Parts: sequence; structure tokens; C-alpha cells
Amino acid sequence: MLTRQYVKADVDGQIGRIRLNRPERYNALNRTMIREIVKVMEQFDQDETVAVIVLSGEGKSFSAGADIDEMVDATPISMELLDPFADWDRISRLHKPLIAAVHGFVLGGGFELALACDLIYATPETQFGFPEVGLGVMPGAGGTQRLTRRIGRTRALEWLWTGERMLAPEAERLGIINRVFASEQFEQDVMTRAHQIAAQPPISVRLIKDAVDKAGDLSLQDGMDHERRNFYLLFGTADQTEGMQAFLEKRQPTFKGN
Ligand code: CAA
Repeated sequence: MLTRQYVKADVDGQIGRIRLNRPERYNALNRTMIREIVKVMEQFDQDETVAVIVLSGEGKSFSAGADIDEMVDATPISMELLDPFADWDRISRLHKPLIAAVHGFVLGGGFELALACDLIYATPETQFGFPEVGLGVMPGAGGTQRLTRRIGRTRALEWLWTGERMLAPEAERLGIINRVFASEQFEQDVMTRAHQIAAQPPISVRLIKDAVDKAGDLSLQDGMDHERRNFYLLFGTADQTEGMQAFLEKRQPTFKGN
């Protein structure tokens, strides 16, 4: 049973879809909800029939951030003991492509959840922002790190200090999100993109993600050494034989995922 209290989930072809399902609170993320999201993501990551995971929100918005009701009485010690962000860290250990398909408000922890995904697609009127400063806190689930890596220190500081919202076309221009798709056919366009990635040889897709992830952590030479090992590894796959053979025979390849 994939669908849970705060999350709806299903499989469409090779796409594992997860929908945040707390629309009456703008999908505000409480701890149970995060745990459910990560659990379903991990199930899809292990499911051989799923190639790509798409995360979206039910109702008017993707997510208005962490559940403020749940945090209002927290203390440093309760936070330390609960370590609520430990669950979030598991997202970056997933191997399969993770797409955030967002609309409406994408604020605070909602923005951080989207930034934890590999690709972000949004409708034109989507509003992104980090309002935490106005609550007397700051992002705690990776916002200062992931935003800064995407847009640099000065731009990140301005967004984080003012708490201002940015519309999707601006976020696209700055390279925070991948693409804006028209609202009328948003789901369809996202699914077309997801299926396009799902049709690629899965071990290549997996090892590309693994190598790209190293780019942020390793020196250029160490990163290139890592890339090279992944490249050599792919010559042990049937999909490499098929892909290159199909090119030489001027036909479309049929990938089997091994
Ligand atoms: N936590 C808890 N409840 C929330 C919420 C949140 N983050 N966001 C919205 N809600 C609730 C509201 O309290 C309200 O509940 P009631 O109907 O019981 O009053 C309901 O959702 C609808 O919200 P509004 O009436 O406020 O709707 P609106 O259309 O006037 O405004 C909004 C929408 C702009 C998203 C506004 O609700 C808002 O600013 N929400 C808070 C955004 C925020 O500050 N997010 C950061 C959270 S902290 C964080 O995320 C830390 C981190 O790094 C992990």
C-alpha cells in the first residue's frame, strides 16, 4: 500500500508518482508527512518497474513549507533529540531521477524539498521563496546550501534575508529550476519529460546522476576519475552493446536495463 495519510502514490507506466496530500494546509510538511514522502520515494527507488519518480502537490500549491504549528514550541534540545532533518538527508541517497513538478506556493521547506529533487518543473505563476527569516528562524533543510550553490552567494543572501518571493520565470532565468510549462498542460508536459528520461538505459541514467553528484564535492581531477570509472563500468552492460549496435545498424535501440 503506497498511499498513506499525507501522501498519495501510484505508478503510471515506469513513472512512480507521489502527491503531497494535505491541501487544506497548503501541504505544510509535518514530520509524519516527510517520513511518508521519503518512505515512498525509497520504495520506488527499489522498485524495478519504476524508472523515474515525480513529486507534486494536491490542491492549490506544492507546499507552504514546514508545519509551523509543529515547530512553534520547539527548543534546541527537542530539535537536537528529534533531528527532524535526518529523514530529509535520505532523499539525496536515492539513485533514480527525482522530478519536482510544482505549482502555487513553494515556500520554505517546500522549496527545500523541491531543491532536494534532481529536476524542477513549474507552472508560470508558481511562487518560490524562503519566508523563514520573517518567523525568526532560517531554512534548516538545505535551503542556504542548495540555493547558494545554484545562484551564488550574493543572490542567495538577498532572497534569504528579504524573504521575498520569486516567480517561476525568474527562477528559470536564474537556473534554480529547469523549465516552466504552461498550466493547462502542465501534468502532461511533465509526464512526457519523465517518460523521455524513463526510456533511457537505466544504468547509464543512474551512473550519470552518481557522477554529477560528485561534481559538487570532489576536486576536478577526482571527479573526472570517478566519472571515468562509471564510464568504464557501463561497458559491462547489455544496454551499451545494444545502444552502440543499434547506432551502427541505423535502428532504434531496445534497452533492457541490464
Ligand atoms: N505551517 C502550518 N500551517 C500552514 C502553513 C505552514 N507552513 N502554511 C499554511 N498553513 C495553514 C494556515 O495556518 C491556514 O490554516 P487554517 O485554515 O487552519 O487557518 C491554512 O494553511 C491556509 O493558509 P492561509 O489562510 O494563510 O492562506 P493564504 O492563502 O492567506 O496564504 C500562504 C497562503 C502565503 C502560503 C500562507 O499560509 C503562508 O505564508 N504560510 C506560511 C509560509 C511559511 O512561512 N513557510 C515557512 C515555514 S518554516 C520552514 O519551512 C522551515 C524549514 O526550513 C524546514
